Amino acid sequence: MADEQARGKWNRKYSEAPSGKPGACAALKEYAFLLPATGTALDLACGRGGNALFLARRGLQAHAWDISGEAIGTLVREAEAEGLRVVTAVRDVQASPPAPGTFDVICVSFYLEREICGALTEALSPGGLLFYQTFIHEKVTDEGPSNPAYRLGANELLGLFAPLHVLAYRELGRVGDTGQGVRDTAWLVAQKRLDQTK
Ligand SMILES: C[S@@+](CC[C@H](N)C(=O)[O-])C[C@H]1O[C@@H](n2cnc3c(N)ncnc32)[C@H](O)[C@@H]1O
Repeated sequence: MADEQARGKWNRKYSEAPSGKPGACAALKEYAFLLPATGTALDLACGRGGNALFLARRGLQAHAWDISGEAIGTLVREAEAEGLRVVTAVRDVQASPPAPGTFDVICVSFYLEREICGALTEALSPGGLLFYQTFIHEKVTDEGPSNPAYRLGANELLGLFAPLHVLAYRELGRVGDTGQGVRDTAWLVAQKRLDQTK
């Protein structure tokens, strides 16, 4: 989708949708104990920045990028209200992904652009952590995008970030009692090990 089309679509969505307090994704909340005490953290395609606010509360230098100025505006107001510092940018991350070695933590939730996964791996500093959670094909509810291109195939996240060391991976699909567990999404928490240069 062209940059201006995506921007318009998301700005409209955010201006129409009620803006409750944005929360962090389940993968980040559950594995927050893995976070470093200090360092730089990026919430990529942040929306209203629930992950960025969470990371800033943990004492990290939080950055948050999104193509939607509407979403970033809400995040700026929320950060100010809480007295948190979040460095925000209205940025097309497909055209301008983060530069190599620039973040100790990268968090992506409910955004999928396969072409930049290599750049995200490179953008992690040695020892850096990736938290990624987004929708899968094998769904239980109707939540998330209807276009299958924006949903992950089975174990696909593992392949997209194959150079990283897996710390946690979850993809429950429709197995067992679908009333339990976080469904509809896959989660990957992974680390760029010191001997990895890519
Ligand atoms: C489903 S929302 C998820 C937002 C947030 N990560 C969350 O978990 O609530 C997808 C986000 O991706 C953003 N987005 C879409 N294309 C983008 C692009 N090329 N560059 C940056 N952000 C983009 C949208 O503006 C939207 O905020």
